[in-house]
Amino acid sequence: MNAEKKDSENISVVPVITIDGPSGSGKGVITERLAKITGFHILDSGALYRLVGYAARLDHIELDQEQALASLAAVLDVTFSPNPEPDQPLRISLRQQDVTWEIRTDQAGVDASIVARLASVRRALGELQISFRKPPGLIADGRDMGTVVFPAADLKIFLTASASARAERRYKQLKDKDIDVSLAALLKSIQERDARDTGRAIAPLKPAADAIVIDSTMLSIDAVVEQVTTLLKKGTGAWAFQQK
Ligand code: DC
Repeated sequence: MNAEKKDSENISVVPVITIDGPSGSGKGVITERLAKITGFHILDSGALYRLVGYAARLDHIELDQEQALASLAAVLDVTFSPNPEPDQPLRISLRQQDVTWEIRTDQAGVDASIVARLASVRRALGELQISFRKPPGLIADGRDMGTVVFPAADLKIFLTASASARAERRYKQLKDKDIDVSLAALLKSIQERDARDTGRAIAPLKPAADAIVIDSTMLSIDAVVEQVTTLLKKGTGAWAFQQK
């Protein structure tokens, strides 16, 4: 079954906004802000790939064992729940254990990007991702949300920023947590991840033909949120939304 068909068979009246882009472009925080404004649900698809990588480490499965990884992905026992703390990411549990922070390490991001190259892993996560589409709407954050998983999404944003701006943001986040890192090493890691995510054969990172590209290199989070909110207000029909 192709992605176009899967999407159209779903509850197509439930609006979907897709936010794709490279790591560190601010998709996560923008998605959280937009979810608050709209009251829509969130699909953090990157977290699913991170969970597969993390579960593989727990189960001593090598990251190139495609069939074993796909089996793991097919029965991923995962729960997403709202975080009671303001401006904090969703709480994520794997096999009833809270792994919210464990899956956010740079290593977990690299592992995710490695397992995400595998076709059977992507297929195994496909239905799970589509199941997040529930009323009143969904904001789906990832690499292939607008191109593969929700090709008929109502609004597609491709959020990008220069690799050096993204590395500097990450550097600042880690410094604020007193974690000692080198900016050069972060930049190298971001460039390698970009190359893997954009260069892979299946569902590579790229803007959908009908996506609106926002370059956040010189923009604040507030400015990006404002741009997307303006686009949202132009929505019509089933997905016209009222600002809360
Ligand atoms: O958004 P993130 O940094 O949490 O994503 C981690 C990795 O998962 C990313 O480097 C590539 C992969 N990914 C993907 O291939 N497709 C998605 N829709 C989301 C993430």
